[in-house]
Amino acid sequence: MNVCVIGVGYVGLVTGAVFADLGNEVFCVDNDKRKIDMLNRGEMPIYEPGLKEMVKRNVDDGRLIFTTNLSKGVKTAKVIFIAVGTPPKPNGESDLSAVEAVAKEIALNLDDYKIVVNKSTVPVGTGNLVRNIIEKHRRSDVEFDVVSNPEFLKEGSAIADCLNPDRIVIGVPNHHVAMALLELYAPLERTMLITDVESAEVIKYASNAFLATKISFINFIANLCERAGADVSLVAKGMGTDSRIGKEFLQAGLGYGGSCFPKDTLSLLHTAKKFGEDASILESVIAINQDRVPRFVRRIIARLKPLNRKVIAVLGLAFKPNTDDLRDAKSLEIIKALQKKNAVIKVYDPVAMDNARSILKGVTFCKNAYEAARGADALIVVTDWNEFKLLNLEKLHQEMRGNFIFDGRNIYSKERVESAGFEYHCIGKQ
Ligand code: UGA
Repeated sequence: MNVCVIGVGYVGLVTGAVFADLGNEVFCVDNDKRKIDMLNRGEMPIYEPGLKEMVKRNVDDGRLIFTTNLSKGVKTAKVIFIAVGTPPKPNGESDLSAVEAVAKEIALNLDDYKIVVNKSTVPVGTGNLVRNIIEKHRRSDVEFDVVSNPEFLKEGSAIADCLNPDRIVIGVPNHHVAMALLELYAPLERTMLITDVESAEVIKYASNAFLATKISFINFIANLCERAGADVSLVAKGMGTDSRIGKEFLQAGLGYGGSCFPKDTLSLLHTAKKFGEDASILESVIAINQDRVPRFVRRIIARLKPLNRKVIAVLGLAFKPNTDDLRDAKSLEIIKALQKKNAVIKVYDPVAMDNARSILKGVTFCKNAYEAARGADALIVVTDWNEFKLLNLEKLHQEMRGNFIFDGRNIYSKERVESAGFEYHCIGKQ
């Protein structure tokens, strides 16, 4: 099938590569020439395991084309995916200007029946908005349909998630339209759920907000465990083995970051208010998350004060492991708060260093965790990269001046860390 994917961000690029890998002819379009040029040179604008190899394979076979020429992509394709960004406005509402602009461009190039698919995370009602824009700007009465097909992939495991999704949600105005999407996704042999457009749009936000709720809930329980002398890891295990609850997304820590949960919970809150619905449940989820870093920093200050000129090694900058993404990363918030108290910051991340150099000022970038630890008074774990779990703790201790570890992701066992000579502070346990 001929497919056009507009937007080569995380979702667009991975979707385009996977559709090409399944044997389709795919045009990936973006108006950012720099990104398209990079991709045509075989360089990836993002770090995602397996992506580079998959892109190369399909470009070499001629099934995957990167271009700024939207007109050609739209005219060649039967199915057009909109996968552009929907960043938050200051009031939390999703900014749909990129979606609107793309819808207008599609309309101007519509020469034949097309299926226009919203893959971007967009608030309920956006399918209608896109339909109205295309109707208004198309040059003739050529037919089209607008479908909602939200994406559920996670950064760091995007290819695997895209190839093995728990479910594929297809929100359609009529069942006839669903056939083309069913055909496109059939090779994955996964559960497909056909709904109306509005329900598909809500499924995406409800899923992300529910996962964010699980995280904030376990973080609230972690706070309680700290006061009551309980251990949140054991509590999460005890809860998660109930199949109705499930063990995923019950890892207490510094809270959720990244480009999705913080933005999507705020957007859903905005939508709920727009429809006059009480959303205090979401307000609590957001408030708990927003207090994770201040609470962690309060603990660091309480133990190390005064922070003035104390050297702190920060392990992990990316918002989570296996990505170089720093959007809404807890590291940035923590470093800013510690710098405000005049702490000296050394940092290390396995893949996010290049991105960090343009964002972080006044920190020392180190080649590895041991170099970051050298001469430090305290070490803090911000991202749960596997390589941090496997560090030689005795060697780390020898490198340091002080002996504090503040583990924001609970990656170590207290006994192990203490036997290496550290004073250990973690989340939700003594
Ligand atoms: C999330 C969803 O998991 C995807 O299904 C969705 O498609 C995506 O948003 C999106 O809307 O595009 P992602 O943001 O890549 O994916 O990352 P997650 O793995 O969900 O992690 C989000 C944040 O929650 C991270 O900061 C992570 O450290 C944190 N987290 C996750 C916890 O603090 N505890 C947990 O138990 C799990």
